[in-house]
Amino acid sequence: MDDMPDNIVEILISQQAVERRIAEMGREIAAAYQDSLPLLVGVLKGCMIFMSDLVKQIDIPLEIDFISAMSYGGVQKSSGAARITKDLDCVIEGRDVLLIEGIVDTGMTAGYLLRNLQARQPRSLRVCTLLDKEVRRIVKIPISFRGFSVPDRFLVGYGLDFRQLYRNLPYIGVLSNEITGLDRR
Ligand code: IMP
Ligand code: MG
Repeated sequence: MDDMPDNIVEILISQQAVERRIAEMGREIAAAYQDSLPLLVGVLKGCMIFMSDLVKQIDIPLEIDFISAMSYGGVQKSSGAARITKDLDCVIEGRDVLLIEGIVDTGMTAGYLLRNLQARQPRSLRVCTLLDKEVRRIVKIPISFRGFSVPDRFLVGYGLDFRQLYRNLPYIGVLSNEITGLDRR
């Protein structure tokens, strides 16, 4: 397509399809939390566009906060070791917490964050992700709200980056293997 930037080989999920699915997810989340005041915890930076679209589709009172973790390893690799680089502003003890991820890949990042947050004794702790790259999973992650199951390709857009670029694409695109230097298939 003419309007795709260089190195994007395919639009995997169109803007319209993403937005439609996010509207459904918003309704699912509203139904699940109608009797509580959930705290949505976004995992920066990949959650950014997804979460801002998602919260507009959840028509019950809610609060938001953000956390950021860095995992050691390369661009595509997660070693499992991680640390929090920006912590929550609020206390989550006794709260219904929903972790919001752009993508769950190996599950190392989400696994680390779930262990860390669970230790703070929330009333409940669940995971919502726009994209689930299940075939790559190493750490088992219970996902309560899933936008799309995606194949083992390097995906960008809608908040997801490659070396901090492409986050602003309004769709989910597949990045060329020549750029990622990665061909796992
Ligand atoms: P994990 O392997 O589940 O720990 O994922 C670690 C992080 O790698 C994710 O939060 C994303 O930031 C990034 N990541 C994994 N797969 C992709 C992808 O296809 N595109 C962009 N970022 C990705
Ligand atoms: Mg990234």
